[in-house]
Amino acid sequence: MTNNNMYFIANWKMFGDVKSLNSLNKVIKFSKIYQKNKFKLIYCPPYTLLSLFSKKLKNSNIGLGAQNCHQEETSGPFTGSISPKMLKKIGVQYVIIGHSENRATGETDLIINKKIKSSIKCGLKIIFCIGETLLQRKKKQTHRILNNQIIKGLKGINKTNNILIAYEPIWSIGTGIIPEKKDLEKNINFIKKKIKLKKLKVLYGGSINPKNINNINQISELNGFLVGGASQDPKKFIDIVKKTFK
Ligand code: PGA
Repeated sequence: MTNNNMYFIANWKMFGDVKSLNSLNKVIKFSKIYQKNKFKLIYCPPYTLLSLFSKKLKNSNIGLGAQNCHQEETSGPFTGSISPKMLKKIGVQYVIIGHSENRATGETDLIINKKIKSSIKCGLKIIFCIGETLLQRKKKQTHRILNNQIIKGLKGINKTNNILIAYEPIWSIGTGIIPEKKDLEKNINFIKKKIKLKKLKVLYGGSINPKNINNINQISELNGFLVGGASQDPKKFIDIVKKTFK
């Protein structure tokens, strides 16, 4: 059975320019008329488009998120960085933290933990990414890795009503390979048991597209999807939502 209140988050990564704004029209229209099921769409464009998206999405029911932020809450001598408060001020509501592509460039669990804390203080909701590498999976270390990322990333954080967990196996991101339904179910349940908090939402991310969505959208514990590549095409993004509720 598919959950209500599913999240569909578009992670545009380092793609998109002002012309991409036009692609939003279709999705805004869709989200207004497609009321059959309850779901929340959230766009996470690159920093350069956040202000424009904020204006464009103002009277829509689509949320806006950033793809990262600095761990310092407000301001400071950090060249090239953007603070959670700066994001909040321009109408951003969500922020992706701990994405494996940022972990790969040296973002540690400690920094991730600081970023989560600062962002919560500023009133942002967190999309907290966790996931194992292919090697870790092969060595059957998945649960140990997830456990570690959860414990360190959420250290000292008691309230998690502002946190969405995005389980993204690294071997699945951008590869076209998605986990077996049975495996995914097991890992989602592990995360939910580990973070024993009411109403915790766990999303899946990695190579989701309209063709494979039906393979995994019937997991009752799943609360949505973090979509990379396919989310840049409005038709594909809309199809992913429609197929989930079919
Ligand atoms: P993908 O990316 O859908 O292109 O695999 C997902 C992500 O990295 O969030």
